[in-house]
Amino acid sequence: MQSSDMTRPDLLRDDLIRQVRRMRKDEGLAVARTFYAELFSRCPDLAKYFAGLDVESLAAKLWNVLRLVAAGDQSGVDLRAAATRVARRHEIRGVAPSHYALFTSVLVDVLAHCQRTLPPEVARGIWSKELEPITAMIMARHV
Ligand code: HEM
Repeated sequence: MQSSDMTRPDLLRDDLIRQVRRMRKDEGLAVARTFYAELFSRCPDLAKYFAGLDVESLAAKLWNVLRLVAAGDQSGVDLRAAATRVARRHEIRGVAPSHYALFTSVLVDVLAHCQRTLPPEVARGIWSKELEPITAMIMARHV
């Protein structure tokens, strides 16, 4: 699609996704660390599922997820297989589908505040939509 054919929401979404694609690893990890700090302070009930885990390694995994979302169809990753693996890891820790809404709402907030170009509420709307398919895929794989 030529950029002249794109609607304004498409252009805003592209702008946001391009920012993630261009992010350096240290910047991406900083966003991911901010997310976990925010999650643990805002949602102490969720923090217990992460007990004993290393935040640096969690941040690296979250940064991979964000890059995967930003890569879209071009990631070359088998998303269904990856979603199944993540759902298993979650289940082992006692994470249930009912926990996802809170987790993603904090993630969307942090992502919206860590970008520079769009009003936070616009960025929040875009990120909510972008994270929906992967979230639904993981949730559907809980048994
Ligand atoms: C869209 C939502 C989510 C995504 C994309 C996501 C993604 C991931 C990924 C990629 C991993 C690494 C799995 C691995 O090591 O192979 C992971 C691990 C983990 N996630 Fe999630 N997650 C989500 C929601 C949640 C929620 C709601 C919770 C609970 C509050 C949670 C808690 C955990 C924990 C505790 C681990 C560490 C598992 C372990 O290493 O033992 N996640 N998540």
